[in-house]
Amino acid sequence: MDLFETKFRDSMTSKVALLNRITYYIVNRKGKQMRPMFVFLTAKLLNQGEVNERTYRGASVIELIHTATLVHDDVVDESDKRRGFFSINALWKNKIAVLVGDYLLSKGLLLSIDNGDFDLLRIISVAVREMSEGELLQIEKARRLDITEDVYYDIIRQKTATLIAACCSLGACSVKPDSPDVETFRKFGELCGMAFQIKDDLFDYGEEKIGKPTGIDIKEQKMTLPLIYALNNCSKKEKGWLINSVKNHNKNKKRVKEVIAFVKQVGGLEYAVAKMLQFKDEALSLLHQYPKSDYRDSLELMVNYVVERKK
Ligand code: IPE
Ligand code: IPE
Ligand code: MG
Ligand code: MG
Repeated sequence: MDLFETKFRDSMTSKVALLNRITYYIVNRKGKQMRPMFVFLTAKLLNQGEVNERTYRGASVIELIHTATLVHDDVVDESDKRRGFFSINALWKNKIAVLVGDYLLSKGLLLSIDNGDFDLLRIISVAVREMSEGELLQIEKARRLDITEDVYYDIIRQKTATLIAACCSLGACSVKPDSPDVETFRKFGELCGMAFQIKDDLFDYGEEKIGKPTGIDIKEQKMTLPLIYALNNCSKKEKGWLINSVKNHNKNKKRVKEVIAFVKQVGGLEYAVAKMLQFKDEALSLLHQYPKSDYRDSLELMVNYVVERKK
């Protein structure tokens, strides 16, 4: 990871001073770096602990794209906090955040192109397309307030799970380009990603300090699994009240608190936790098709971390 960090840092440099100031700000407030870890551990598991330059470049591309999507996501969600500090849009405004996100995205794609990693580029480009579709599907559903549990899974599969799926399939592809392991690990990553986003959505119902705002999903009319469960498991009158709250009172702090309390009271959080653990267990059973090794143990720790993490 130390070596990765140096390479990652170098992959962002520009001749434009303003850009360098902003990317300097970004790399110094690094996230959990779970995605590169998924890339490296998958490659190592499949290749007796050996990784190559393709693996490193793949990991950098993924983290560049992840960073780009976070910069854009905070514009879309009008969020002023990220990784415990101000978001890029909060400090430099939307115009600059949009352009910085585009810059990071193009730097990521070019890193693959300049090195002829076209198989990896395909994996990454599919993920980028799906993430944009997922974010837009989410907005469409937030406007119409007609989300079902299945559509919720479609959204989180596209906006979050695809990128983690790309990490694992890319890690596999970097060392074993034409093996069936590429698909098995894509699926493994997807399952981890599903659990990951359900956990993220659960954070929004908590009060813990996680380095970004909580309680903003309802404000943004974003209906996540706990609320969807509540809507499907209450009286007609309560359902009307819930929908009306999200539709017409979503900026009213007191009303949002009442909605959160209601969701908790009908067991929405427990339901979401149970679903998250199902995805986790499915991921683990895929992983256990492979013989035990240090790398498999580490990936297992990662899977457990996805559902137990505190931020
Ligand atoms: C946040 O991802 C975006 C989601 C898909 C929920 P992470 O929680 O991995 O973000 P960082 O990189 O650690 O900040
Ligand atoms: C995750 O979306 C970010 C992307 C997948 C682009 P969210 O809006 O749910 O994530 P956070 O909570 O802001 O990190
Ligand atoms: Mg957000
Ligand atoms: Mg968002």
